[in-house]
Amino acid sequence: MEDRAGLVAGLEGVVAAETRLSRVDGEEGELIVAGYPVEELAGRASFEETVYLLWYDVLPDPEQLASFREELACRRALSGATMDLLRAVAAERVPAMDALRMAAGTVRPGAPHDEALALVASLPTIVAAYRRMQEGEEPVEPDPELGHAANYLYMLTGEAPGEEFARALETYLTTVSDHGMNASTFAARVIVSTRSDIVSAVVGAIGALKGPLHGGAPGPALDVVFEIGEASRAEAYLREKLGRGERLMGFGHRIYRVRDPRADVLAAAAKRLYDTDGDRRLYELALEVEQTALRLLAEHKPGRNLQTNVEFYTALLLHGLELPTELFTPTFAIGRVAGWTGHCFEQQGSDRIIRPQSVYLGEENRRWVPVEER
Ligand code: ACO
Repeated sequence: MEDRAGLVAGLEGVVAAETRLSRVDGEEGELIVAGYPVEELAGRASFEETVYLLWYDVLPDPEQLASFREELACRRALSGATMDLLRAVAAERVPAMDALRMAAGTVRPGAPHDEALALVASLPTIVAAYRRMQEGEEPVEPDPELGHAANYLYMLTGEAPGEEFARALETYLTTVSDHGMNASTFAARVIVSTRSDIVSAVVGAIGALKGPLHGGAPGPALDVVFEIGEASRAEAYLREKLGRGERLMGFGHRIYRVRDPRADVLAAAAKRLYDTDGDRRLYELALEVEQTALRLLAEHKPGRNLQTNVEFYTALLLHGLELPTELFTPTFAIGRVAGWTGHCFEQQGSDRIIRPQSVYLGEENRRWVPVEER
């Protein structure tokens, strides 16, 4: 809402860019990715197809897809300098998201398209290599024969994943690949609008994604389910949290006034996964926690219609894929870098620096007082 000085807190409702990458309709609960409803695209597209679609506004034909896959696959390996950096920060027990931010910054700035390819290709290698270093294991070299998603899982575990796992991860990566003018995308566009490079923009975006109000929510959302432990404890636990003024992670959204459509896509993918494999008890507990949380949020903020967002089912799906909680947000970055880079291309096309204004609230007419007189 705008105040008298023209300030719009949180820039809510402010239109800051034009984009053809995705359209978010918060009233209807719709997400359109380059023309495709997310429900149509997410279960079918490989991640490479999604990146191609976001960058070029068309799905690739078989030849284009093969050559795009090749362009990405040949850029997966990390430089010696990046590996040295990761080893050094692993020894310091730096959190994975901070290691990702630092290592993404070692991608060499160059032509925008090369930078974007290198970033999309190398983020999974950084995350997987770092995880293995933290665990005291040797990193696994990328396998160029595997698709982007399957190769990420392979580099984490050393074993090529089954089709069900690879499909579930592709669904996740496409679902989160872009989402309008979210905070991290805006951060990337601001950086590129100064004619800085895409590497810097993605480093800034990773920093924005890390926050618990944006991409940092799924880990805490799953922790809540673990801490609750059994369904009968859910209500008391969640009531206490709300009573302390805490937010329930995985619920609510700035734009959606109805259920986040990505939650539905990921809920279906999680159901498929847990039907075939995984901790069925945890899955059922999570569904009960969700229902209790929705009931209590309706009591807590009547009329606001706080609903499940993408992060709740992200947590469940990524846990089902046997990813540790610490990798949830880095894995979000591996998907969202598709959108960040696409937005950077768009922003470069508009070539207008993003430079809003602020309202000054400080003192006026102060006079200098020498240090010894203060
Ligand atoms: N739990 C408890 N209360 C909540 C929650 C929640 N999850 N979400 C919103 N509220 C409350 C707010 O505190 C606010 O209360 P107030 O009127 O007393 O100040 C009221 O509901 C209305 O809040 P909104 O204006 O709808 O929220 P806002 O747009 O400021 O924030 C946000 C949206 C940050 C996502 C918020 O819902 C939240 O913190 N959710 C939990 C964190 C989370 O799940 N983040 C991931 C979002 S998805 C993504 O970024 C990929």
